[in-house]
Amino acid sequence: MHDHDAVSIIRAKRDGNALTDAQIDWVIDGFTRGTVADEQMSALAMAIMWRGMNRTETARWTTAMMDSGSRMDFTDLPLPTVDKHSTGGVGDKITLPVAPLVAACGAAVPQLAGRGLGYTGGTLDKLEAIPGWQADLSTERMRTILTDPAIGAVICAAGADLAPADKRLYALRDITGTVESIPLIASSIMSKKIAEGTGALVLDVKVGSGAFMTERADADELAARMVQIGLDAGLRTVALVTDMETPLGRTAGNALEVAESVEVLAGGGPADVVELTLALAREMLLAAGIDGIDPADRLADGTAMDRWRAMIVAQGGDPDATLPTARHSDIVRAPASGVLTRLDAGMVGRGSWHLGAGRSRPGEPVSAGAGIEMHAKPGDRVRAGDPLLTLHSDDEARLARAGAELASAWQVEDTDAVVLRPLILDRIC
Ligand code: URA
Repeated sequence: MHDHDAVSIIRAKRDGNALTDAQIDWVIDGFTRGTVADEQMSALAMAIMWRGMNRTETARWTTAMMDSGSRMDFTDLPLPTVDKHSTGGVGDKITLPVAPLVAACGAAVPQLAGRGLGYTGGTLDKLEAIPGWQADLSTERMRTILTDPAIGAVICAAGADLAPADKRLYALRDITGTVESIPLIASSIMSKKIAEGTGALVLDVKVGSGAFMTERADADELAARMVQIGLDAGLRTVALVTDMETPLGRTAGNALEVAESVEVLAGGGPADVVELTLALAREMLLAAGIDGIDPADRLADGTAMDRWRAMIVAQGGDPDATLPTARHSDIVRAPASGVLTRLDAGMVGRGSWHLGAGRSRPGEPVSAGAGIEMHAKPGDRVRAGDPLLTLHSDDEARLARAGAELASAWQVEDTDAVVLRPLILDRIC
């Protein structure tokens, strides 16, 4: 461990060399303990961004980040454990319905989630829109909820000891233009998911204007890298590559997405949210080794909704409480009759960020009620004057800023020929 120094490791990667196991262990350990400076780690992240890391390096980087903290262990639970992770997209609220749904089918779902930095809030920000709901749980309390036969799913904040090297590195990457590196994203996500102690993992890798990966080949590579890292770590891992060219569902925003998730659990909700919830639930059950149960039945018979309610109550929330709404709203209407041929996820995401649903600095509060309702989806026929979008914000001035962002987010055309991309593009295992 003593014959390395940060500068030669940075130079090695800068010049296109593969890092050795010992170099990776040394630099992550030093960064965690504060002997490798933020400036040095930022330079190394930029070198990795340009030069990449091969499979061996990425696997070692993941393990080193995982080993910077402690690994949770749920192998003694009486039920198989399985989790789902999405690389993030606009309107992606699937964790909310899928965790109680999969628990209703007989698996335990230990989900450690985060707060968002980008367009809309993360899963925790969404759940915090529910009055009383608490994200922080002790490991003991997590176990109690996971083993409760009436609950079985928990969505909570990752503790400070879960891959702390990743927490610090992600904060640096966020301010140094080094987020969009496939090996860094893959190792960041997988170090946390392996440390979380789940026995199986289903990844939802998004591709399109509202995702980290805008190109299909990059999304496929990210999915393949993550699956490989998971399998190498003994985790049953599978990935779906799914479309994020248009937002998922009809809402983007924190409380708005909770309300839509509850609709899905009640047996309704937008067709695309239901399709992806069921597809991911089926993959999770398969990965957990549970067969003979159709999750669609658990949505239809109300058991998934019962689990949701119990899960919210177990974390101090009131599932019957009225969700917060924003103080101001504005409606965008169709200028002419025709078919909505495009609704751009990236622009809708930036619009909801302007409205106050996301944050620009870590720790900043998000608005629970802010966001966008989408009254039409690509392929829908609209008449002149029909509402296309409703914008919600606590700050009236933000409505205009979001409106400007959204002006070119959609297109209504006089056509019958709309080619819609399938939602689920590939399955990688
Ligand atoms: N999510 C993470 O946890 N890490 C990344 O690097 C990107 C998305």
